[in-house]
Amino acid sequence: MREFLNCLGTKVFMADSFTDLSYHVGTYGNNTLWVCDSNTARMVRPLPKPNVILEAGESSKSFACLERILSVAIDSGLGRDCTFIALGGGMICDITAFAASIYMRGCKVILIPTTLVSMASSVLGGKTSINFKFAKDIVGTFFPANEVLICTDSLKSLPNKDYMNGFAEVLKHSLLTKDDSLFNIIATQKQKIMERDPATLKEIITISLQIKKSYIDNDPYERLGVRAALNLGSTFAYALEGMSRLQWSSGQAVAWGVCKAMEASREMGLCSKEFAAGVIKLFAFYGFDVTYRIQRGDWMDYRQQLIKNKKAINGVTSFVLLKDQGEYEITSIDEEIIKGVVMVPSV
Ligand SMILES: NC(=O)c1ccc[n+]([C@@H]2O[C@H](COP(=O)([O-])OP(=O)(O)OC[C@H]3O[C@@H](n4cnc5c(N)ncnc54)[C@H](O)[C@@H]3O)[C@@H](O)[C@H]2O)c1
Repeated sequence: MREFLNCLGTKVFMADSFTDLSYHVGTYGNNTLWVCDSNTARMVRPLPKPNVILEAGESSKSFACLERILSVAIDSGLGRDCTFIALGGGMICDITAFAASIYMRGCKVILIPTTLVSMASSVLGGKTSINFKFAKDIVGTFFPANEVLICTDSLKSLPNKDYMNGFAEVLKHSLLTKDDSLFNIIATQKQKIMERDPATLKEIITISLQIKKSYIDNDPYERLGVRAALNLGSTFAYALEGMSRLQWSSGQAVAWGVCKAMEASREMGLCSKEFAAGVIKLFAFYGFDVTYRIQRGDWMDYRQQLIKNKKAINGVTSFVLLKDQGEYEITSIDEEIIKGVVMVPSV
């Protein structure tokens, strides 16, 4: 087990194997509550008690499931000195950390991410949340985990759709730094990435988290307009997810949203046509849907979702746009430009 990063007090470790991981987890003792979903619960046998197993899927990031976690903690007599252990993807890590942040005004939380989204992004930076009224991550707290334990072996069983969700986050991070190393790996090592080559995975996860850390360290609570750059693509994406009642997976929506942000940046003259085209081509190269457009009849619904965005500043929805690799601007966008990039063109 190797500690390779520390961000907002969260120690991030890379494990060599499941055995290495299990050994470290053994040091936490019994004063713990394990939270898994119906898929990740199978990874630890027998699962230590007390535990909570939530139904896999985004719909479990809910008040009802939050209540279940808190109920089991109370019914098991866990005190403020207990540790919540999340074993799962972004869904389990987000809701478990949220529960830990409010249980007895805050207990310890350890995250063991099992998907690429969670390993390469969501575990860092302390954003915890649940969804509410079909709005993504609308209720939550900032509560950095005490430790994050990454073991890439668990990615072997991850379905391709979920793997690609995580890869969208990695690709997005590669655009947010002037350092070309992650971008170059992505542009040249498609086969290794798609085969989930362990060394390549460790490398892209490590760089992805380092990029994320560089933004978080300078703006931990997303108040200075620095950390917000990590939301590249998400204003477009969240509205799409909301409009489709969360039917779009988060990574697919983020990939689409980043491409829409690139189109808007190009239309506003912020970035070159070549840069925008290059980014969109890279997402398409990895099979993401970069051409989808919402039907004209759905515009009002989409617009409503944009307005509802929790990142609105003084009621104005803001977007992260890119001028170049690692150079961003956070701004509002003229409604006609938004329509032009997201909607099916009129005939
Ligand atoms: N907190 C943050 O900063 C942040 C950042 C990005 C995304 N997120 C959140 O992360 C969530 C998406 O994350 P996700 O893609 O990990 O989703 P997820 O946790 O729902 O996992 C996706 C699917 O993979 C299954 N799974 C997990 N690990 C597995 C494994 N090793 N083998 C086989 N199946 C496995 C799960 O059971 C689930 O069915 C969203 O809720 C999103 O809002 C949070």
